[in-house]
Amino acid sequence: MKRDPTPVLTDDLTIQQYMGQRKLTVNEHLDHCLPPLDTPPQVIHQAMRYSVFPGGKRIRPILALTTGEALGGDFQKMISLAAALEMIHTYSLIHDDLPAMDNDDYRRGQPSTHKKFGEAIALLAGNGLLVQAFQLIAELPAQAAEMETKVAILDQICRAIGTTQGMLAGQVMDLVKKGKPFSAEQLEQIHSAKTGALIQASVCCAALLSGASEEACKKLGTFGQRIGLAFQIVDDILDSSQDSSKPPATYPALYGLEASSKMAIELVEKAIQDIEFLGSRGETLTELARFISVRRI
Ligand code: IPE
Ligand code: IPE
Ligand code: MG
Repeated sequence: MKRDPTPVLTDDLTIQQYMGQRKLTVNEHLDHCLPPLDTPPQVIHQAMRYSVFPGGKRIRPILALTTGEALGGDFQKMISLAAALEMIHTYSLIHDDLPAMDNDDYRRGQPSTHKKFGEAIALLAGNGLLVQAFQLIAELPAQAAEMETKVAILDQICRAIGTTQGMLAGQVMDLVKKGKPFSAEQLEQIHSAKTGALIQASVCCAALLSGASEEACKKLGTFGQRIGLAFQIVDDILDSSQDSSKPPATYPALYGLEASSKMAIELVEKAIQDIEFLGSRGETLTELARFISVRRI
C-alpha cells in the first residue's frame, strides 16, 4: 500500500515524528531506486546499500519534500529529487571517512564503508551513488517545457557540490586549514561550502521543481543558506568533545560553545523570517529549521 505522502504537522504530530514518517517514505524510494543487492557486480551494490541504509536523519531529502509541500509541488518528482540528494550526501560521507580524509571507523552507528568493504570499494561505492543520483534527476518525468527546470536543477546541484563554491571546495579548504589558524570569514566560507551549499540546494531545487517564482526561489535560497550554515555549526557543537593533534576549523574552536550555539539559533531565527511569505504553508519548514538549531542528533 502506498504511504500517505503528506503527513500534516499538528499538535499531535511533533517535528521528530513528522521526520520519522518522512524518513520511511524516503527510505522506501531509495530502496526502489538503488540496484538490488544481487545485481552484478554485487559487491558495489552491497556497499552502496550498506552506506545508505539504515541511514541518518535524511535532513536534505526531508527539506526537499517539505519545501515541495509548502509550494504545492508534485510529490512523485519531489521524492526522486529527495532520493538523489540523499545519495549525493551519502557519497560525501563515505569519502569523508576514508583514511586519506577524516579516517573515521564508524558512521551512522556501524563500521564505515571502507572498514566493511575496503578502501577501493568504498571509493567506488561513493562514485556509484553520485552517478546514480544524476541518473535519477535525468529520469525525472518532464514535459518538453519542463526540461529547462531539469537543467536548472542539475546546474544548482553541480554548483552546490563542485570545486569552486560547493562541497568539494569546502572539503579542500577544510583539509588545508586543519591545525592552522583561520579567520571568521574563512570559517564561514568553509562551512557554507562543505555543508551549507547542499542543504541550500535541497531547498532551492525543490522550489524550482515546484515551479516557484524567481522571488520565492531567492527567499528560499537565503533561508537554505542560513540553515545550512547553522547545521554545520551545530554538527561541530555536537562533535566538540573530539580532540585531535590537527584540530579542524570550527565555530566552537573560534567562539566557544555557548556563543556558537547562540549564533546557530540566531541564524535559524533569521532564516524563519525569510520564509514568512509562505504564511501557514511554511509551518513545517519553520519547525524543521528550528529542529536544526536545537538538535541533539
Ligand atoms: C553529517 O551530516 C555531515 C555533515 C555534513 C555535517 P548529517 O548529520 O546530515 O548526517 P546523517 O545523514 O544524519 O548521518
Ligand atoms: C563532513 O563534515 C562534510 C561532508 C561530508 C561534506 P565533517 O567531517 O565535519 O562531518 P562528520 O563529523 O564527519 O560527520
Ligand atoms: Mg568527517
